[in-house]
Amino acid sequence: MRIEGKEYRTIWFENNVVKIIDQTKLPHQFIIKDLKTIKDSINAIKVMEVRGAPLIGATAAYGLVLAIIENDDQSFLKKSAEDLINSRPTAINLKWAVERMMNKLLGVNSDQILKIALNEANEICEEDIKFCKNIGLNGLKIIEEIYNKKKNTVNILTHCNAGWLATINWGTATSPIYHAHKKGIPVHVWADETRPRNQGANLTSYELNEEGIKNTIITDNTGGILMQRGEVDMCIVGTDRTLANGDVCNKVGTYLKALAAHDNKIPFYVALPSSTIDWNIKNHKDIPIEERNSEELSHMEGLDEKGDIKKIQIYPKKSKAMNLAFDVTPAKYVTGLITEKGVCEASEKGLKDLFK
Ligand code: MRU
Repeated sequence: MRIEGKEYRTIWFENNVVKIIDQTKLPHQFIIKDLKTIKDSINAIKVMEVRGAPLIGATAAYGLVLAIIENDDQSFLKKSAEDLINSRPTAINLKWAVERMMNKLLGVNSDQILKIALNEANEICEEDIKFCKNIGLNGLKIIEEIYNKKKNTVNILTHCNAGWLATINWGTATSPIYHAHKKGIPVHVWADETRPRNQGANLTSYELNEEGIKNTIITDNTGGILMQRGEVDMCIVGTDRTLANGDVCNKVGTYLKALAAHDNKIPFYVALPSSTIDWNIKNHKDIPIEERNSEELSHMEGLDEKGDIKKIQIYPKKSKAMNLAFDVTPAKYVTGLITEKGVCEASEKGLKDLFK
């Protein structure tokens, strides 16, 4: 997708270096950063220079390529894989990508291993782009249906950033929106700010602006009243881990939006590539929910009057704060799952009919 009219992907490999867009600096500064070592890759995931389930999977895949360039010893590779998986706990794509890479790399000779690793990491990215594009085409039909009935701008609420910045290109939740816009369907997006890291304001609104899509940032608590007023036609969010029974784990606050949508009879869709499905965990209580540093709540970053990025404290120093990063929306509140293979019911049968 475009930034200032120029096409980008979120990650690419060039001259033995992994290039990323540093998302901690967006929207104020657009910086392309080099990852040169496995340590750089793990750090980029931890501090969220890259974030979003598919993108952290891709970063981990390229991280293993960098590990091999540093040291092609198999025990170094195994330790790197383990460290990558532990760098963020909730999004299943991370483990999925590392395991996919390791299945190709374990026991491979030194003269072959780099080529195989790079091919597989590239393939993970190409596949994600293809899947996200198909998610867009499948979700487009739903937006089109609403537009054909309404004959007016379709208002879509989204939470966090499940945009192209969270994937390699297109995004998951935003892909149907980009496809609708390209087809000339008038769309407007309510972008939940998404405290504490403000991915909705800083990333979703930013990337929609760059593509010329109308959007409005709202606080995380505003969606309910907009739904009661009839100003939301549908919700589309992404997910970090969807269970085989259709329960959806996503950025904290998603659950409350789904409850409000249910109460107001507004369709609530979740968009995901199959790499985000966890076929093993049966109970959502077993999903590891990331708890991040409480400083993300008590401090805020923004531009000062000189145009420099500055961090300030906004809470009383003595106050305790808790920062759970994800929650789970039970399948019963999800109208449908928009996947690369089609739209299905959020249920074991729905997912199995499409994927097994
Ligand atoms: O903490 P983040 O910014 O990595 O959280 C991202 C989300 O919750 C996204 O909705 C999810 O990863 C889906 S990305 C297509």
